[in-house]
Amino acid sequence: ITDPLVLFMPSGKRGRFPVGTSVLDAARQLGVYVESVCGGRATCGRCQIEVQEGNFAKHKIVSSNDHISQKGAKEERYERVRGLPERRRLSCSAQILGDLVIDVPQDTVINAQTIRKDADTRVIARDAAIRMCYVEIEEPDMHKPLGDLDRLKIALMKDWGFKNLEFDFYLMPQVQGILRKGNWTATAAIHKDAESDIARVIALWPGLKNEAYGLACDIGSTTIAMHLVSLLSGRVAASSGTSNPQIRFGEDLMSRVSYVMMNPDGREGMTVAVREAISGLVDKVCAEGNVQRNDILDSVFVGNPIMHHLFLGIDPTELGGAPFALAVSGAVRIKASDIGLKLNQGARLYMLPCIAGHVGADAAAVTLSEGPHRQDEMMLIVDVGTNAEIVLGNRARVVAASSPTGPAFEGAEISGGQRAAPGAIERVRIDPDTLEPKYRVIGSELWSDEPGFLDSVQATGVTGICGSGIIEIVAEMYLAGIISEDGVVDGSLADRSPRVTANGRTFSYVLKEGEPKITITQTDVRAIQLAKAALYAGTKLLMEKQNTEHVDRIHFAGAFGSFIDPKYAMVLGLIPDCDLDKVSAVGNAAGAGARMALLNRGYRREIEDTVSHIEKIETALEPKFQEHFVYAMALPNKVDPFPKLSA
Ligand code: FES
Repeated sequence: ITDPLVLFMPSGKRGRFPVGTSVLDAARQLGVYVESVCGGRATCGRCQIEVQEGNFAKHKIVSSNDHISQKGAKEERYERVRGLPERRRLSCSAQILGDLVIDVPQDTVINAQTIRKDADTRVIARDAAIRMCYVEIEEPDMHKPLGDLDRLKIALMKDWGFKNLEFDFYLMPQVQGILRKGNWTATAAIHKDAESDIARVIALWPGLKNEAYGLACDIGSTTIAMHLVSLLSGRVAASSGTSNPQIRFGEDLMSRVSYVMMNPDGREGMTVAVREAISGLVDKVCAEGNVQRNDILDSVFVGNPIMHHLFLGIDPTELGGAPFALAVSGAVRIKASDIGLKLNQGARLYMLPCIAGHVGADAAAVTLSEGPHRQDEMMLIVDVGTNAEIVLGNRARVVAASSPTGPAFEGAEISGGQRAAPGAIERVRIDPDTLEPKYRVIGSELWSDEPGFLDSVQATGVTGICGSGIIEIVAEMYLAGIISEDGVVDGSLADRSPRVTANGRTFSYVLKEGEPKITITQTDVRAIQLAKAALYAGTKLLMEKQNTEHVDRIHFAGAFGSFIDPKYAMVLGLIPDCDLDKVSAVGNAAGAGARMALLNRGYRREIEDTVSHIEKIETALEPKFQEHFVYAMALPNKVDPFPKLSA
């Protein structure tokens, strides 16, 4: 008779195990990640699984509840005290009796407080660098003079299979008290990163400690976003954001570098400012998630190179000009306390590697999240800010660059431009016959020509036009024939429509009359042309490096991408030709990448390896950049065809 066959979903891993093996042991042997804090004592509840019933013909498995042992006394006690959702079992207690298909839920929730409804629901396979390990320790014995810490170490190594185990020094004075308080039981937080053989006890609690949290933080030059995540369930317990207080030292990155160069204590001032803002965010997410700072054991930070350096207290001056030398490009592994971040005393801090002097750890996080290196299609990832970061590649090869788009896409340097906020125009349509526009603003569902529009925007009024609105209006002006392929506003239309008006020697288009009057000038159109040409030329260089004429898929990362309509991005020639249904906005991919590195140490190794192979292109030094740029000034492009657009 052969042993029962067990299939774990969603990983699809399977194997045969003798009758009586616990499901947890079977999972371990197959390398299926199932959380466990209590080490199989049926007290933590972290090891829950579900048995699927039915005849799984493809796998030749007949799985049923009879093929798993009945609940034993310990599991029943757990169910009585803590409750078990229907169909859930504790895998440490449930034994294999026959063929089984086992579902491993990715979100074993012990504490209902940690659920957030609006959280990013992406499920991330877990294998965190921090593990919570409960042990029972031998009591002291006059005849065996081993120290408390040494007996704790032996218990941890025996029960949890660690080979090289070390302790953070700060725990030594505390260990006696903790073990006695826990009546010779304790839970150790053990840090073991993918690249190290050494496991290290970084925190210790008396008895069973069944919670552990981590931070995933994206330090943007304008906003800082933070997630508080349960390391044991993967759930986002709270999220918050704040504006980067460094803005008072300089709006964009280069002005912040100049500030450092001009002011002896400039670097210090900006480091203090960003660290204080981050500490404030920790307070916020802790309050929202009902979590103590002391329960935060790990943290992952990403940011562009200048944010990365300032956060670490490194002078970013070298990043201000060629050769854009990074002080440190590899992943950073330190203690959170090294930079004065008050979490648990033993908490760790990890920063993803930077790709190049102008393509930072944020771009690495976006790459990790979207995974061009994990698939065959040629994927283009664009993260638009004042610099556009561009990554292009597939399984075989990934290349990256940044391109100086300037702030036009964010609404800056445009006459009626503003940041995306309630009151800003975000959608525009122009009737090609009458040249009359209609628009929609952030905060209202109605178009400007619909009844009730004015009431719907009463709170803010119409205040300006944001990045996505600018893209749409320039594209609509082109589609309506108001601007030529070269971006020139056609003055002859002034006879036909009062919307086209002379403005010195050039012409403008009046989008909105009244207060404030919103006009698109020739200079505005030029600013958009320059920005989009820079982005397209950078992309084109990467396509040449990849020897490819087309891309299969385009992902827009970041806030900007969430609002623009891919069709208009293509009408303007912002992005290369691509199936429109393969162009998508992926939101805060940098934050998602940070969360992946927080919840799974394998992703840290993966992105470090990927970044070491990414080829960086320095757009400023490439002779063909200018040529591509000039062609890309035209709408959508002087030489490149856009067949998918006409289709
Ligand atoms: Fe803790 Fe099963 S491992 S309940």
